[in-house]
Amino acid sequence: MRKIIIAGNWKLNKTIKDAVDLVTALKKDLAGTTAVDIVVCPVYTALADVRKALQGSVLGLGAQDCYWEDSGAFTGEVSAGLLKDAGVQYIVIGHSERRQFFHETNETVNKKIRAVLQQGLIPIACIGETLDEREAGKTFDIIKTQCEKSFAGFTAEEMKKTIIAYEPVWAIGTGKTATPDQAQEVHAYIRKMLVAMVGEEAARVVRIQYGGSVKPENAAELMKKPDIDGALVGGASLKADSFAAIVKNSVVQK
Ligand code: PGA
Repeated sequence: MRKIIIAGNWKLNKTIKDAVDLVTALKKDLAGTTAVDIVVCPVYTALADVRKALQGSVLGLGAQDCYWEDSGAFTGEVSAGLLKDAGVQYIVIGHSERRQFFHETNETVNKKIRAVLQQGLIPIACIGETLDEREAGKTFDIIKTQCEKSFAGFTAEEMKKTIIAYEPVWAIGTGKTATPDQAQEVHAYIRKMLVAMVGEEAARVVRIQYGGSVKPENAAELMKKPDIDGALVGGASLKADSFAAIVKNSVVQK
């Protein structure tokens, strides 16, 4: 059985004070919720204070990106090792906004995931097709290439430690969620790819989150699908009531 994991991707939002207020509310609302793993991913500047505010709670701490080198002359970058030092446990890698606005490629995503794994942290690796690609019938080709290149050379053990987030770009921040069947179809395809890449046993273990306009109203139906193992939540993770409701609604029997 794969444990459901719900992660809030706060993107470029919230001052330190607002971030601490949000996790303080979540800590209260979600106290004792252990049936699903819960993660919040604030901006770098809020990590230290959020970490303190989270102490003694069931919530995990994530970052939204990292660089693949450990240290050196890379102005402006933050490494996985330094994020570990700051108390981070999860790092989102290859979000479509990073691919679109910061020119990340499957190759850089591969290096970053490796750096995260090397530090013993958990990568949340994002893949997903654009609307044009879906309408042109290329969804599965795109997913295949993203998996093959982003996870190139991974051992079964490395793959097992990696969380994949399937986020159709057309569903991110648009209010247009993939239907549970649409998402399940791609999740099942990703798992089939993983069987070919790292074998059946590892493929069975890998958690695959869905992301793209997840809300309290659609979380349960998505989570009931056999290959959907959680959610990466953007907009609805910025408020305690909606994020807590998503987490609670994600406790489903499969
Ligand atoms: P959304 O974002 O929930 O606002 O659609 C999801 C994401 O970008 O991870």
